[in-house]
Amino acid sequence: MIEQRFKCPNCEEIATFYGNPGETKVVTCAACHMKGRLTISGEKQDDAVAIEVSHLKKVYGDLIAVNDISFAVKKGEIFAFLGPNGAGKTTTVEMIESIRTPTAGSIKLLGKDVKTQFNDVKEKIGILPQEFHSFERLTVRETLVYFLNLFKKKADVDEIITSLDLTSHKNMLYKNLSGGLKQRVGVAISLVNDPEIIFLDEPTTGLDPKARREVWGVIAELRKKGKTVFLTTHYMEEAEFLADHIAVIFKGKIIAEGTLEDLIRTYGQSSVMHIKKCVNAPEVIEMLKQEGYDEISSEGNGDIAIKIDYKERVLDILSHLRHDCIEYESLDIRRSNLEEVFLRLTGSKLTEDTA
Ligand SMILES: Nc1ncnc2c1ncn2[C@@H]1O[C@H](COP(=O)(O)OP(=O)(O)OP(=O)(O)O)[C@@H](O)[C@H]1O
Ligand SMILES: [Mg+2]
Repeated sequence: MIEQRFKCPNCEEIATFYGNPGETKVVTCAACHMKGRLTISGEKQDDAVAIEVSHLKKVYGDLIAVNDISFAVKKGEIFAFLGPNGAGKTTTVEMIESIRTPTAGSIKLLGKDVKTQFNDVKEKIGILPQEFHSFERLTVRETLVYFLNLFKKKADVDEIITSLDLTSHKNMLYKNLSGGLKQRVGVAISLVNDPEIIFLDEPTTGLDPKARREVWGVIAELRKKGKTVFLTTHYMEEAEFLADHIAVIFKGKIIAEGTLEDLIRTYGQSSVMHIKKCVNAPEVIEMLKQEGYDEISSEGNGDIAIKIDYKERVLDILSHLRHDCIEYESLDIRRSNLEEVFLRLTGSKLTEDTA
């Protein structure tokens, strides 16, 4: 008999059931009374979950900054908490880190209640706060040694310096580093106690694309080392590139959650084939319509967009174009992305200030 934790898809209450691996049970949610079938997996849940947040809420005066959110982060995954400015990301992450006190709800870190047992886990987490700054007049190495000495459990500072590609900068003063290097030092600081879970609050905000990619490389390496990463970001490309699991937060609520594929499948449009500067576009559109392609749009300048429901359609369209010797300048296929998912869910762009 093993324990299986289960999140109700209706009200998000987390409940515990017991059974044998592979056994399917009819279960009833204690909170909303919804009935459903649950198959007990063989996985030991306590070992698999790094962070468990249940009905978390934070109120500031009249503002509900975080509004009754629940989610779980699996060990070893990069979990992206994606949302625009003011969505509630930092408030949430700092409640998990025990820096801010929740108005309601519960948080477990590695199975320990953050409210009552934080001391048991504080050495097992690493933190890069938003808009991080360090001591201006310490070198990179001195900075890391300073932070190392705050912990009982100590990683090898020189190994961290090597793994973050900071060797040639280790004797430079923090104040003389570029923005990207400063962020890398911030990630390095979060690793000095060899933590199991690393919280990175907007680690690449304000960096140029090259520096951003370098920090992404560092974060991807952490996953390879088996670390759990809780990443907050408002860059959809960052979540798309790095995350195993994404929770989209908007005005204090989680409005969608899943893998990138899940989110695109559930909330995105299908892929679209774009034919640029097609000669005889009206005839081509007519021909495609007769072949059963009914979702076609055209700007009237020879550019045609065709909705692709399934992959085989691409080959069909190409063979029609070839068979009828249709000339065009270029052709590409674009798939839905998180920006489109966000727009569909909220009616606004992620990059706009939607708070
Ligand atoms: N200490 C506080 N007192 C009052 N209001 C606060 C406090 N901290 C945050 N807020 C408000 O709560 C909301 C959520 O803020 P939070 O900093 O968590 O958002 P965020 O998603 O991290 O945004 P950003 O991308 O700008 O960092 C905002 O409206 C913010 O103004
Ligand atoms: Mg923030």
